Amino acid sequence: MRNILSIILLSLVSLGLRAGDIHVIPYPVQVEMQRGTVRLPLSAPESVRIDAGMAHADEYRLTLSRKGIDIVAQSTAGLQYARETLAQIRAQYGEELPALTVTDYPRYEWRGLMLDCSRHFYSLEYLKKQVDMLAHYKMNRLHLHLTDDQGWRIEIKRYPELTQRGAWRTFNQQDSICIDTYKDQPEFELDPRFIVRNGDRTLYGGYYTQEELRSLVAYARERHVEIIPEIDMPGHTQAISAIYPQFTATGEASWGTIFSVPLSPAKEEVYTFLQHILDEVMDIFPSHYIHIGADEVEKNTWRESAECRQLMDRLGFKTYEALQSYFVNRIHDYLQQKGREMICWDDAIEGGDYQVPGGKGALSPSADVMYWRYWVGGVPQRVVEQGHHIIFTPGDPMYVARPDGPLYDIYHYQGLDLIPDSLQHLVRGGQVSLWGESMSNFRRADYCIYPRMVALAERLWTPAAQRNWQGFKERLEVEKAWLTAHDVHYARTNALLTAMQAADKERKCMLLTFDSEYADPDIRYTLDGTVPTLSSPRYDGQPIAVTEPRTVTAAIMENGTAREPLFVRELEYHKAVGATVSYTTARWHESYKAAEVATFTDGRRGGDSYGDGLWQGFTRSFDVVVDLGSVMPVREFSMRFMQNIDPGVYMPAVVEVSCSEDGNAYTAAKTIANDTPDTQKGTIIKPFATPLEGQARYVKVHVENTKGFVFSDEIVIR
Ligand code: ACM
Repeated sequence: MRNILSIILLSLVSLGLRAGDIHVIPYPVQVEMQRGTVRLPLSAPESVRIDAGMAHADEYRLTLSRKGIDIVAQSTAGLQYARETLAQIRAQYGEELPALTVTDYPRYEWRGLMLDCSRHFYSLEYLKKQVDMLAHYKMNRLHLHLTDDQGWRIEIKRYPELTQRGAWRTFNQQDSICIDTYKDQPEFELDPRFIVRNGDRTLYGGYYTQEELRSLVAYARERHVEIIPEIDMPGHTQAISAIYPQFTATGEASWGTIFSVPLSPAKEEVYTFLQHILDEVMDIFPSHYIHIGADEVEKNTWRESAECRQLMDRLGFKTYEALQSYFVNRIHDYLQQKGREMICWDDAIEGGDYQVPGGKGALSPSADVMYWRYWVGGVPQRVVEQGHHIIFTPGDPMYVARPDGPLYDIYHYQGLDLIPDSLQHLVRGGQVSLWGESMSNFRRADYCIYPRMVALAERLWTPAAQRNWQGFKERLEVEKAWLTAHDVHYARTNALLTAMQAADKERKCMLLTFDSEYADPDIRYTLDGTVPTLSSPRYDGQPIAVTEPRTVTAAIMENGTAREPLFVRELEYHKAVGATVSYTTARWHESYKAAEVATFTDGRRGGDSYGDGLWQGFTRSFDVVVDLGSVMPVREFSMRFMQNIDPGVYMPAVVEVSCSEDGNAYTAAKTIANDTPDTQKGTIIKPFATPLEGQARYVKVHVENTKGFVFSDEIVIR
């Protein structure tokens, strides 16, 4: 028996391994498997050379053959990447390695992680560990948000009070939330190493000495990771203004309406002070880039200040956004004089467009911009059209402080590809960013960063043709053992089960396809609304086809039971599915456009939240015509609406429906009146339905909105 087994195994090996079999993350550009394996003990020497003439920056070629281990690399970073690939192959195969050649190089130059050290503090040891992790995934930038309203974390010798006072705080609201949550959820423990007693006060905080930061920079440099310091200005500077209130426009150091009171752009002493700080920052960090924030600057105190208004007049500025750009440009000029490049958050592009005649107040085009405001339309396009390099960290999906964000969204993030080819050279890459308000300890930070940063590593390194979601998930299952062995507290509970829905017009059915972050999940489902059990059908990867109205309930099975949360969706292939909808009067509100013209006939029903992307919102009355494509018998119309009066969402006063065979002559309208009181609280979802008679191709619907928002998700025609 054993012999038969080994013969089978041997013949499998001699057939050669598939490229997808090597567990390397991020997956290489090209893997050529040769026949057979080679025995290369750990002590086997490596033949290595640098060939700066290789085609791509940081490229490497790794060959494992009977001759041994051969590495050629374009740079010392490329050499490190080759060794990392070798280490991952060794972890999989031990000393009996597949004969192969890997040719590899990064798709994007900026592959990073941001840590917010201000809101909560991390030990130097933890930062070094993140450098190791970045290097393991062939990433190369660690962006440290070192200063903010909640704490100043970098020693500045000229202004010792910045850390003596600014690095320590009495528990703030965020700490209190963590402390309260900790009572039920131990993972929220506020790291006790950063809590100190000072007389009768308990303080939270910490800072890095210059010596510590230099050691971090050196540690990172050895691993080809650049540390990018961020000193946020002119907003998010309460740690400064609490000590130097004279640097704000009004002398106030308080909290404003939404953000803290910023520094004044009209005071020369502010620039002198900041330049002194930046001198020390540049002395510690040899990085090509210095990040100066420039996000979320509340300008109310600038409006109140005669000095600011005079400066605006003198410069001919019309907006306070232009005044912000003026501030940023002055800092930018200073950094450039010192041979550095500046990065700022994308808020700083609002000052104007230098290409517009008379467009004063534009951010200097040589400033790099970090894109984060994902909800503001067209920001990446504007950034590159104005000539800036761009680094992508859009809040959705790259802000990872919410631990339940899907891995899928990062792995498949499209934004970088939407920049036109002619401007692609301005795309530096991207990063995941971890804001620290609820990062009360490093385990929680780990939990938020991993494994999503692993997905980002592959997104930013591997070209589209080599990226493979299923292959990635399989490699990630193996990688999780590595993460555990390296004491990384990665999340195990990201979005488990997601579904894609489509209509099949030929077979007249709805199709549902499931996806999961597990490589080989046991997904069970029912069509009768009951909770799936081990005797329910197993989802086999093929779409589930639903012809009659059904409630699909699905779950991943774990230890014999359905794992929460269950996936529940009503599916119905009715006559309007896939029909064309014309909006003849008002359109939807831009903030609630759902799937735009496809919303009412895509067969997808919304959930309990009008913000779930399935409900379309209107602030006016509106009319639509549904074209069924051909004349057919119709017997019922039904359209769902939602009421939730606290945020101002109401049922329509009335819905009117009429039918036509030719699009000209319509039947008399049927009127469906609202019967839900506009005082009824809670979330109410109700169909407005009426019987229809005879035949129709066109169904005209008028929705009368007399109050607030009206939301609907689907027009059903049976
Ligand atoms: C930011 O999230 N305020 C850049």
